[in-house]
Amino acid sequence: MGVVRDLFIGLSENEILNDASKKMGLRFGAQKVVGGTGVDDTLVRFADLNNQGMSITFDNLGEFISDRKEAEKEKNNIIKMIKAVNEKDLTVHASVKLSQIGLNIDETFCYENIKEILDAAKEANMFVNLDMENYLSKGPSLTILDKLLEEYDNVGTVIQAYFYDAKKDVRKYKDIRTRLVKGAYKEPATIAYQSKADIDQSYFEIIKTHLVEGNGFTSIATHDHNIIEKTIRFIETMGISKDEFEFQMLYGFRKDYQQDLVARGYNMCVYVPYGTDWYAYFMRRLAERPQNLNLVVKSFTSN
Ligand code: FDA
Repeated sequence: MGVVRDLFIGLSENEILNDASKKMGLRFGAQKVVGGTGVDDTLVRFADLNNQGMSITFDNLGEFISDRKEAEKEKNNIIKMIKAVNEKDLTVHASVKLSQIGLNIDETFCYENIKEILDAAKEANMFVNLDMENYLSKGPSLTILDKLLEEYDNVGTVIQAYFYDAKKDVRKYKDIRTRLVKGAYKEPATIAYQSKADIDQSYFEIIKTHLVEGNGFTSIATHDHNIIEKTIRFIETMGISKDEFEFQMLYGFRKDYQQDLVARGYNMCVYVPYGTDWYAYFMRRLAERPQNLNLVVKSFTSN
């Protein structure tokens, strides 16, 4: 299993394949998990999901940008999508990776870029979630978040359960809108739990803490039915209102379960990535769950 994971992680980092895929359009089943390559085709996906009773958080694909001009271009792309959404009657918010808008270039530059995004979002009455990346970027990202929170009320963050300090973080951000995840990057045992059992336990702990101790809206972002159903039993026991939290899943994954949760009256938010930079995202999803390869197989047998 580790070999397959490493193979797809390797493919996700291959520069030649990343560059080639940008000119190709969505291929190999990626169209099942990526909303579109541009604004217009992605807006159609948004409308479709809203019609199914789901809200959306969008992600302009592309990360770890090391060139200022490139970072500015991505910032402008995000603002363009915010404005396009604002012109339609859609329930959509933004997710932003700080490494896409300059975190690895210069923190002040990144701070100015995210402020511009937040200003545009505020005008559109939109919330912006800062995605969390690897441990190296966690400290600088939270420093930027803390500064933004002095000025903005439309920004939130992500807490990754695999870190030993997740519980401390969840208490610090208990009063803001927060997405809780297990954590997607490879991190060493000095800072992060390694086994699924430990990560799952930490994950359920931070879900309970954020739901009970704070006033912040809780986004529980997982495809794990065991955690979701355990959380539902917990909120029922505690009498927590359905307005205080939502479930989030990635676009294209467990669609039946997403619809089932909506039918049961839960808020369901779908994370929709879009853009020409789809290849690395797609390979990482295959690394995470090799069963997702059935998307690739199906892409060759259907339209
Ligand atoms: P996990 O992969 O542990 O699976 C648990 C079980 O659920 C599986 O054994 C299987 O039974 C079932 N299952 C999972 N996927 C399935 C599928 N497709 N079909 C059927 N059954 C399935 N990470 C991060 O570090 N920073 C971030 O900002 C974000 N943001 C983010 C947003 C959203 C909306 C989501 C859903 C996830 C993230 N993540 C993230 C990724 C997250 O940290 C994690 O890596 C993945 O969600 C995978 O873990 P799961 O919790 O989904 O379950």
